[in-house]
Amino acid sequence: MYRTELIHEALKARENAYCPYSHYAVGAALLGKSGSVYRGCNVENASYGAANCAERTAVYSAVAAGEKKFVAIAIVGGLEGAQPPFSQFAFPCGVCRQVLWELGGEKLLVIVARDEDNYQEYTLGELLPEAFGPEKL
Ligand code: THU
Repeated sequence: MYRTELIHEALKARENAYCPYSHYAVGAALLGKSGSVYRGCNVENASYGAANCAERTAVYSAVAAGEKKFVAIAIVGGLEGAQPPFSQFAFPCGVCRQVLWELGGEKLLVIVARDEDNYQEYTLGELLPEAFGPEKL
């Protein structure tokens, strides 16, 4: 299960996005050390600040299922109705980078994709340098 399969899983997750306010649907697929994949999508709220990003939905789903060690995450995003390849890469927001750091650490592979054939990958350490994490406490 790797890059293209993980991106495919993120595309499937995006189909369930609840985004009536932004109309920007995001899907994520998180690969655990066990080999299991956990899907996540953004879930918005009339109280805008209560919205949850796709990446965090995936992390929380994984932890709830008993997985606490992560290898990679694939993320896709695009306006509702748009089909891949999307016009942009959906980079995780800062809150999601912090949440991913907690259990993914600097080596977590972050795959931002427009479709299965158009993607870029980064380590979380590249996306969140000098992070504050459990190792600091
Ligand atoms: N959003 C994600 O779900 N993932 C990201 O990486 C960036 C932004 C969502 C899209 C929209 O729902 C917004 O965050 C609302 O907080």
